[in-house]
Amino acid sequence: MFEEGAILKRRWGEENVFDLSIGNPVMEPPVEFSQELKRLVENPLPGMHRYMENAGYPETRAAVAAQLSLETGIKFSMNDIVMACGTGGALNVVLKTILNQGDEVIVFAPYFMEYGNYIDNHGGCIKVLPTDERFMPKLDALEAAITAKTKAVIINSPNNPSGAVYSEDLIHRLGELLRKKESQYGIQIFLISDEAYRKIIYDGLKYPPVFGHYLQSIVVTSHSKDLALPGERIGYIAMHPNCSLREELMGGFIFCTRTLGYVNAPALMQHVVRNLQHVTVSVAEYQKKRDFLYGHLVEMGYSMIKPQGAFYMFPKSPLEDDVAFVNELRQWHVLTVPGRGFGSPGYFRVSYCVDDKTLEGSLAGFKRAAQKFNLC
Ligand SMILES: Cc1ncc(COP(=O)(O)O)c(C=O)c1O
Repeated sequence: MFEEGAILKRRWGEENVFDLSIGNPVMEPPVEFSQELKRLVENPLPGMHRYMENAGYPETRAAVAAQLSLETGIKFSMNDIVMACGTGGALNVVLKTILNQGDEVIVFAPYFMEYGNYIDNHGGCIKVLPTDERFMPKLDALEAAITAKTKAVIINSPNNPSGAVYSEDLIHRLGELLRKKESQYGIQIFLISDEAYRKIIYDGLKYPPVFGHYLQSIVVTSHSKDLALPGERIGYIAMHPNCSLREELMGGFIFCTRTLGYVNAPALMQHVVRNLQHVTVSVAEYQKKRDFLYGHLVEMGYSMIKPQGAFYMFPKSPLEDDVAFVNELRQWHVLTVPGRGFGSPGYFRVSYCVDDKTLEGSLAGFKRAAQKFNLC
């Protein structure tokens, strides 16, 4: 989508293409980021660009642990944290550590499309389960799908692409179900929580941490979205301090960070984010964009669940064939992504982490498509 967008912009001119297809945040990192970067450049630490422990700098891991302790009420230490090359890097390290050939990993559609590739990278088999009409995992479907070969369940809330935020009650019931299945099969099932959007939540909702509800939980996240640093590849893995396999898993994460060739997360960024654990881009700004686009699209007749987090919305496609509808929008120079790319045909994803001019410019195309398919 990134490359196709670039081609269309060259052909029609940047200002005539309304690219709502990718989650590349338009916002610049918060001012604290450049202050911290400047401070480091002006006061370099001795050896700050050298190799380090594969897990990352102890001071950065301790800062992440302190922030997590604050957010969850559970005591984390640096020994529960491994710094990673973004959420994508973190997921690959975790999956390489836990998967044996043929192990099953359960995900819920719609889901971030790279999960399938990451699971495949490490010999696992993806099992995709449906969600309900509000994009919440169906626990009865999960109960039926877990087998003796199930190694992990991946959840992603706030969700890409639906914007859904899971409730504490849902996470609690999920934890209960996984415990029940663990004892039924005598296995260990890991709950991998992809929290790339944890800090981007609207309407005053609070994010319920998974750690309070399941001991075998592993959080993977990054500062790609909350500090708008996707190109810098900085994130982390956090393991529940009381997980029964904690030592073995942490050893695995550290070893796999090395053998996957990451070696360690980028040094400079580890120094920078150490003091930014409490900082986030303006969520109010994203909420304004959500309200603007959601209001207009619903008024035009598009049908969708109001997103509560992340920076995507996932309307129903007015045509059964979501690819055909995305092509229709493209004729009006509006770029979106078909739902089938997320395991949910019949929908399309709109990314609103773009500037206001792009959002405003896209409305005409959405309107023409709405009129053509009699939504209004
Ligand atoms: C749900 C989800 N997980 C992981 C990632 C990858 O994030 P990162 O850039 O930190 O690797 C993304 C990126 O868009 C995402 O949407």
